[in-house]
Amino acid sequence: MKTLVVASKNKGKIKEFKRLLSDFSLLIKGQPENLEVKETGNTFSENARLKALSVSRYSNEIALADDSGLCVESLDGAPGIFSSRYANSDFERISRLLKDLEGCSNRRAFFSCALCIASPIGEILVEVEGRCDGLIVNKPRGKNGFGYDPIFEVLGTQLTFSEMSSYQKEVKSHRTDAFNKLVPELKKIFNF
Ligand code: IMP
Repeated sequence: MKTLVVASKNKGKIKEFKRLLSDFSLLIKGQPENLEVKETGNTFSENARLKALSVSRYSNEIALADDSGLCVESLDGAPGIFSSRYANSDFERISRLLKDLEGCSNRRAFFSCALCIASPIGEILVEVEGRCDGLIVNKPRGKNGFGYDPIFEVLGTQLTFSEMSSYQKEVKSHRTDAFNKLVPELKKIFNF
């Protein structure tokens, strides 16, 4: 079986990728525990490229990296590429964001996801981006998902990502939007 390393240590993301990749007969491995990749890029795409190249070289396997985050209109796009570094835990990140938005009537936001596949010899095989639009709610709602899911209501659904089942989130998510664009190239790379 062919192997694909998912360049992430985020359990929520790995779980979502396993579902998205379940139609492909690939052995999915997580990022080696002892490898830390510095996210020094200025965009989601730059960071996805850095992670894919570094994990692929280190593991000597083809690697798929995701860099994603939440961009809030009233905060000029913050936390953006700093979404995971905004505070120390999901709870604190959510609390900080709700505090930063206190009194703001414009709650528009979107999740962005950049995906990149790289080969061990340093080739970028494919790069794509996806997006999901929504609103930041006043109080967390729902139990599912990870990260900012409890405060992100998907446009036109009245449900936060955390109130959706994994399947409902999968249909709407920025990661799926990007993944769907990646599929034709993924098939070519692995000769499916
Ligand atoms: P990264 O690992 O640097 O790409 O960090 C992405 C961060 O953005 C995660 O730690 C989450 O806080 C947030 N994030 C990305 N995708 C999602 C999602 O689907 N739901 C909720 N939060 C997300």
